[in-house]
Amino acid sequence: MSEIANIDATPEPKRLGLLAQFAGPDELIVAAEKVTDAGYKKVEAYAPFAVIGIDEALKAKKTILPWIVFCMGLSGCLIGITMQCYMNGMEGSWWLAGYEFLISGKPFFSIPAFIPVTFELTILLSAFGAFFGMLALNKLPRFFSPLFRSERFADVTTDGFFLFVEAGDAKYAEAETEAYLTSVGATGVEAINEVVEGRTLPAGIHLAGASVATAALLIPLYLWMTSSTTTSLPRITLFKDMEHQAKFQAQQPSPIFKDGRSMRRPIEGTIARGRSFDDVELYYGEKPEASVVGGPNQGDLRFASYNNEDRTKAQLVAEGDEEGAAAEGEDDPSDDAVAPAPVAGEPAEKDWVTEFPAAIKITQETMDRGEQRFNIYCATCHGLTGAGDGLITQRAMSLNQGTWTQPTSLHVEAVTVQPVGRIFNTISNGIRKMPGYKEQISAEDRWAIVLYLKALQRSQKATAEDLPADKLREISNLKK
Ligand code: HEC
Repeated sequence: MSEIANIDATPEPKRLGLLAQFAGPDELIVAAEKVTDAGYKKVEAYAPFAVIGIDEALKAKKTILPWIVFCMGLSGCLIGITMQCYMNGMEGSWWLAGYEFLISGKPFFSIPAFIPVTFELTILLSAFGAFFGMLALNKLPRFFSPLFRSERFADVTTDGFFLFVEAGDAKYAEAETEAYLTSVGATGVEAINEVVEGRTLPAGIHLAGASVATAALLIPLYLWMTSSTTTSLPRITLFKDMEHQAKFQAQQPSPIFKDGRSMRRPIEGTIARGRSFDDVELYYGEKPEASVVGGPNQGDLRFASYNNEDRTKAQLVAEGDEEGAAAEGEDDPSDDAVAPAPVAGEPAEKDWVTEFPAAIKITQETMDRGEQRFNIYCATCHGLTGAGDGLITQRAMSLNQGTWTQPTSLHVEAVTVQPVGRIFNTISNGIRKMPGYKEQISAEDRWAIVLYLKALQRSQKATAEDLPADKLREISNLKK
């Protein structure tokens, strides 16, 4: 009978330790010092604010958090470098090969280029280490502590200062410890027991959790279903915006037009607003007569579709262009003389202008502008003097990857004899390995560059007579 009664009785709750209250932070520090000096080790202090000096008083071990942060940061740094090195610097034969990115002659393994990603990963992992490491070391998150059952402990968020000595401490002996705590200044001491009741969550919360978890499975299930089945229903679009409208998309067929294309070619002779290229000299560096046959802009892809090349014989005759029509008709040799077929990468030989177009003022201002533009756009490859030794070139040559074409020296005969129109064309449309710059540099600036380039060329062949009198005097004074 009595045994059964024993089983039913609530077991005596386990003693966790003693909670002692103190009057203020100073008293707390003094007490903590004494308690730890007396040999207690499992002691913790609680206060409404950070009490400076309490760590030392408790003889708390230094936190290992900085080491966790350091290790995480170091891992981030190494992961960043290895990942990038593998991804764009390695091309192995293994199944998980990276991809060698060759960008402007940059080496495949380039620490300066890898810094941004490496830096970010270092910071990210350090921050994770600091944040989650702090939580883990503090055994957080924790929803409940048995101390919360103590009424006096509620003051800990306002003006309560407490020491808690754990029952597990080797020196713990309830009556003596209590007496000792009082002797070091505790205003009250309370025994704290383990809390046994109320440990399980209410059934409602269990149910709600289970329902949410089940509902969460529906989304992946739906995605899996849709990816493995077909449907004739249109997509579900929450916000229609302009996604669905009756229109033909670029590069798709259209039944409306005879040629079946939805993209229309520009109507012949169309010139975009603000883009009149009437001035053949200014925009193409060619003599106006040259525009009669072949068009001034064969090199210009944007105009390729509606220059004369595309026109039929009938059209040319209709436009009074007899000569062009004849050339189109029979394959006579004058055809080549008029517009020779361009060699790959070479500009078609045109009737280049030999003088600067009227619209360009040959002034010191234009020269200065040309120098500035040249130093920005050309010197990187061609060098400040045009000798073909710009910084990019020097770097690329030192890497010796065999992918770099050295820019032509602008002082070789083949370039110095070129008419200005031809140089203008080189800048505009590029030549062989050199890209064109007409998208970046306005026609006026391109001419300014040509002007400066001519001056650069002349500077290489200058004689004493080319110097202004005062400079000449300066130099002859130096000689003496
Ligand atoms: C990206 C590097 C690069 C830049 C920038 C560059 N060039 Fe060049 N340039 C070259 C290379 C390379 C060649 C030789 C091309 C070849 O032979 O394939 C060349 C050739 C030339 C030639 C000789 C063309 C011929 O008829 O043989 C001229 C003139 C020239 N560049 C002028 C300029 C001017 C002016 C600029 C500035 C607007 C400029 N380049 C900017 C790389 C560059």
